[in-house]
Amino acid sequence: MTTTTRRSVLGAGLAGGAGLLAGCSSDADPAPATAPTRSPPTTPSGTPTTGDLVVPDFDPEDWASVRAQFPLDTGLAQFAAYVLSPHTAQVSAAIAHHRARLDRDTDTALHEGYLLEEGVRRAAASYVGGTADQIALTDSTTMGIAVMYGGLDLRPGDEILSTTHDFFSTEEALRLAERRTGAVVRRVTLYDDPAAATVDQLTTRLLDAIGPRTRVVGVTWVHSSTGVRLPIAAYGAAIADLNRERDAADRITFCVDGVHGFGAVDVDLPDLGCDFLATGTHKWLFGPRGTGIVWGRDWTPLTELIPTFSGPQDGARLSPGGYHDFEHRWSLSEAFAFHERIGRDRVVARTVEQATVLKEGLTGIEGVTVVTPLDPEVSAGIVCVDVRGMPPANAVMTLREGGIVASATPYQQSYLRLGPSIVTSPDEVGPAVSAVAALV
Ligand SMILES: Cc1ncc(COP(=O)(O)O)c(C=O)c1O
Repeated sequence: MTTTTRRSVLGAGLAGGAGLLAGCSSDADPAPATAPTRSPPTTPSGTPTTGDLVVPDFDPEDWASVRAQFPLDTGLAQFAAYVLSPHTAQVSAAIAHHRARLDRDTDTALHEGYLLEEGVRRAAASYVGGTADQIALTDSTTMGIAVMYGGLDLRPGDEILSTTHDFFSTEEALRLAERRTGAVVRRVTLYDDPAAATVDQLTTRLLDAIGPRTRVVGVTWVHSSTGVRLPIAAYGAAIADLNRERDAADRITFCVDGVHGFGAVDVDLPDLGCDFLATGTHKWLFGPRGTGIVWGRDWTPLTELIPTFSGPQDGARLSPGGYHDFEHRWSLSEAFAFHERIGRDRVVARTVEQATVLKEGLTGIEGVTVVTPLDPEVSAGIVCVDVRGMPPANAVMTLREGGIVASATPYQQSYLRLGPSIVTSPDEVGPAVSAVAALV
């Protein structure tokens, strides 16, 4: 296997780590002992002395080569890999590299890590659009959701408008925000039959529910319960129109749990029109497990929920502090680089193409109901299916016996769920359709 080398410190060239913990100056402040007070040692070229990270090369034009970067069991069709990412060879190489450095000389690795963290934020910005300042680093979607809803300045009587389709993490974060601030959550149902959801219906139902007391609109980009994708950009544009007519204190902040759209929809986040979007990078992006980001258009409305170790400025301020599983966090740059080499558009097209063939194949099978809309405008990679007379958990077990890995949605109304992605291939979709048909 051929290899390419990449300087491991992606943040090289920044003004060192100095000042990144500028907010931690008082004697009583439990600032970590490793906080850099001046730039770490550098080579003559100005790059920190971290050595080379060697990442395996692959052919981004060849889907077989892309799939070969994942160590997944090739005897199984992996339609649930997006739930928690398997590590690519590139991510694994980076993790091993950073782990060895942390183990060998923790102090130096930590000092240089502040630059690596900045490099991760830059890599994220390169992938999502916008600037590194607009990226906060988290450990998961759930942590990002807490940063978002926990940091808003809400008052008794304010209304948070949400929906009946959100994941537990949003439900709980909103319940806690209600308890903490006295704000009230109101939930709207955006569709009755997910398969029949349309952009018009999804838009009308949400916008009609916005009232004079609404200060926050909080939704989920792609519902993991049904696979329905919301028209976030249409919501964002309408909310911006409303905000133009409101006083500053009455304006609506638009928050999104973006996890099942991130890496499955080809759009720059600044074009979505939301204010904040929280997502794990350990699902469709196939980044290191235990990583995520919050994207923020302008961080002003948010107060930190967890003290940061990353500095007082913009997104860094909203990156929860404490020491993390740094070898995973620093390796996130490799996941963004992997997708950028293939092309975000090609990754998404590959996912959508398989999801569409899967939905079309399952449509019309007696006893099988496709719950997710066929239209790619209102869906992404998730495909939910109801199999008459069979609990989804049983369907999952039977499919696995036939070599198909699927999952059951963790909601009161549970469905069988398959998620084609870059780790699956169009050749596996036909057999998946036949296997689901055979369940009936
Ligand atoms: C819509 C949605 N949001 C959030 C999460 C939680 O993600 P994380 O494990 O990254 O916190 C999930 C879990 O799969 C989800 O389906």
